[in-house]
Amino acid sequence: MEIVIAATPEDAARLVADRFEQAVTAAGEDGITLGLATGSSPVATYRELIRRHREEGLSFAHARAFLLDEYVGLPREHEQSYFRFIRDQFTAHIDIDDATVLSPDGQASDPLAAAQEYDRAIREAGGVDLQILGIGSNGHIGFNEPASSLASRTRVKTLTRRTVEDNARFFETVDEVPVHVITQGLGTIGEARRIVLIATGEGKAEAVAAMVEGPVSAFCPASVLQMHPTVTVVLDEAAASRLRDADYYRYIQEERHRLAR
Ligand code: F6R
Repeated sequence: MEIVIAATPEDAARLVADRFEQAVTAAGEDGITLGLATGSSPVATYRELIRRHREEGLSFAHARAFLLDEYVGLPREHEQSYFRFIRDQFTAHIDIDDATVLSPDGQASDPLAAAQEYDRAIREAGGVDLQILGIGSNGHIGFNEPASSLASRTRVKTLTRRTVEDNARFFETVDEVPVHVITQGLGTIGEARRIVLIATGEGKAEAVAAMVEGPVSAFCPASVLQMHPTVTVVLDEAAASRLRDADYYRYIQEERHRLAR
């Protein structure tokens, strides 16, 4: 894992935006398939990418995108559906073709079949080239809660009480938070060719330490990323505060910069 510790959340967002910009630019007219997360973690990155699109001409015209997950039962128009969230926070403000921004169908009459269909659609599109992830305070990625199979595919999951409470800040009351979701599985996410995970704030420090320095375990689903060859974890100081080997990661970062000069 490449661990990058930024001084501030804003710096972390800029670093992740750099990775996006490099990948989108390198793909050029061949196009790129992006994997997009929702939640608060990537919002500053999306804001920075919107700025680069508006002010610097960064184009997403040849990109397409798959979302990680969706609540079961929320209408697409609901302002907390992930279908709507990603448009409001990101894709409506760049030049990506809206028809190519896909998400699981949380309103399907058969959510399990919709989940399997979504998994197939990702594969048939040739897979995700660059996936951005956040991490839950309990170590989930997507909505693969603790004890998820490390080989899981896209399916329906029930949220833990902790995740429901974490997500309640987006709703009027905790009772409005849906408890079921369709989420890409850990096996599905792991097929992305590159993964960049962003985590900021003290509330993520414990989960980050378990992901990076703990054992690979279904108890911390994000720890499965240790098995992926091209993962970058971008943190601010607060999210890195529980890492035992933070000085080593900083040293490696400096060496990388030195060699790049
Ligand atoms: C969102 C997602 C989740 C979030 C995680 C962190 O699409 O898949 O794994 O990334 O719950 O949420 P925030 O960023 O709101 O702390």
